[in-house]
Amino acid sequence: MEVFNEHVSTHTVAARFALMVVCLTLLTAMASAKLRTATFVLQSTTVKKLCGTQNIITVNGQFPGPTIHARNGDTVIVKVYNNAQYNATIHWHGVRQFRTGWSDGPEFITQCPIRPGGSYTYKFTLTDQEGTLWWHGHSSWLRATVYGALIISPRLGSTYPYTKPHGQVPILLGEWWNRNPIDVVNQATQTGAAPSVSDAFTINGRPGDLYQCSSSDTLHISVKNGETKLLRVINAALNTDLFFSVSSHTMTVVAVDALYTKPFQTNVLMLGPGQTTDVLVTADQSIGRYYMAARAYSSGQGVPFDNTTTVAILEYEGSSSTTSNPNMPNLPFYNDTQSATSFANGLRSLASNDHPVFVPRSVDKNLLYTIGLGLINCPGQSCGGPNGSRFAASMNNISFVLPTTSSILQAQHFGVKGVFSGDFPDNPPVQFDYTAQNVNRGLWSTVKGTKVKVLNYNTTVQVILQGTNIFAGESHPIHLHGYDFYIVGTGFGNYSPQNDPQKFNLVDPPMRNTVNVPVNGWAAIRFVADNPGAWLMHCHLDAHITWGLAMVFLVNNGPNSLLSLESPPVDLPQC
Ligand code: C2O
Repeated sequence: MEVFNEHVSTHTVAARFALMVVCLTLLTAMASAKLRTATFVLQSTTVKKLCGTQNIITVNGQFPGPTIHARNGDTVIVKVYNNAQYNATIHWHGVRQFRTGWSDGPEFITQCPIRPGGSYTYKFTLTDQEGTLWWHGHSSWLRATVYGALIISPRLGSTYPYTKPHGQVPILLGEWWNRNPIDVVNQATQTGAAPSVSDAFTINGRPGDLYQCSSSDTLHISVKNGETKLLRVINAALNTDLFFSVSSHTMTVVAVDALYTKPFQTNVLMLGPGQTTDVLVTADQSIGRYYMAARAYSSGQGVPFDNTTTVAILEYEGSSSTTSNPNMPNLPFYNDTQSATSFANGLRSLASNDHPVFVPRSVDKNLLYTIGLGLINCPGQSCGGPNGSRFAASMNNISFVLPTTSSILQAQHFGVKGVFSGDFPDNPPVQFDYTAQNVNRGLWSTVKGTKVKVLNYNTTVQVILQGTNIFAGESHPIHLHGYDFYIVGTGFGNYSPQNDPQKFNLVDPPMRNTVNVPVNGWAAIRFVADNPGAWLMHCHLDAHITWGLAMVFLVNNGPNSLLSLESPPVDLPQC
């Protein structure tokens, strides 16, 4: 069933303007700007997975949910009906949402949840992003099953900065529990223990050959000998960084997070949850069947993880499916930080005339945020975390707590007091050796709060995200809503303001919406606060956001109404 309708925009101003434009390509681009409309119905759906049958929340009964196809410059309008029994929102992961913060989706940040039986229409325009993004639920752990691809093609009349592939396939890497994922997180929140690890990983919803009862639940991708396919790999897993490889085939990375990169050849990808990577794969091997596979990159020592492997089959036309098993690719070992690092270090912005790079050279606001785990005491009771405490996580030692009576954006816009405070600190409350082997136990306790960092419009911001070794140092995929940022530097150990800035790449650093902060290390990101709104920055491991590894940037309106947040939509849900 086709859920997307295309209407050619008949905006008269645009039409008149187009008449005046001499340049033919621009004319084509204007005439081709389209509305892409869709209807999403959240509903409980019965699926057979692994050896059981389970009810999961889906969009339109599909798992993964429908793919949205659009072009750069198009406006997307999605009406969401919540027919599920849970609160729900949809987040358009990576979409810049210029002036349309009301459509970003994180619950209690930019909107109140859509209650069961309610509906809400998301509307936004795709601006200067091409490649692969995705959408997912942003309430509790709904996104375990509520997610799908958002594919952004170049404007009509423009093209990819690489040879056009013969075809393209979204590769959504997911994470599966043989239980209701909402029950998994609710149980963990009740006891204070870590949520249980998943039972499987999936590719486009299918676990693949290596799991029980799953050989018929394996994705097959057919290729013609010699042709090149574009794989749009998305890490939609909840709590796991993933390595991805294709047996016997080299991949050429051409984009990450819907931003072009210099072509870069590799045998393995590493994606943190939230990240996407577009790769070209040429069927240049002997006719046959080859596994593509994904499994965990688990950087935290002693931290439990799902050690299973999901596979799909790359199948050359003419290869008989009855022949021997496909070969497995050599995936790096689970704790192979070296492989994760060399992949990250291979990424560079394309930095071409058509896709220029504007790295801020100087910075107005220099922020240092520690990120990591922590503990909260349970006075008078014994919780399920270490030594009777409960697990927590924090930024600058604050475990972020979502408001309940209003979203932050609504509170800001309508002047409601008492929902959040504007005192998120620019530096950690205490300076210490963040990545030491044994961080003093006195530094493990976090403090709960709903604090935001206020930024004036157009402030140039640098954030040093500094991992800590509290409880267990881990690689954290840190995602910023509403922005793409340049990753100007990363490193292990403690960031040095004296020595590290000299090594920053200000020429062609990768631009992304989600950065993997190395285990017991740091990352330096830069962006210009040119998009007013309330923008969540958080670890995209859902276990960690549940524990409070998040904060919010509140970016003020610009000097005129065209540089300010739009008015809230009339159907914006109320709390
Ligand atoms: Cu992909 Cu706040 O999320």
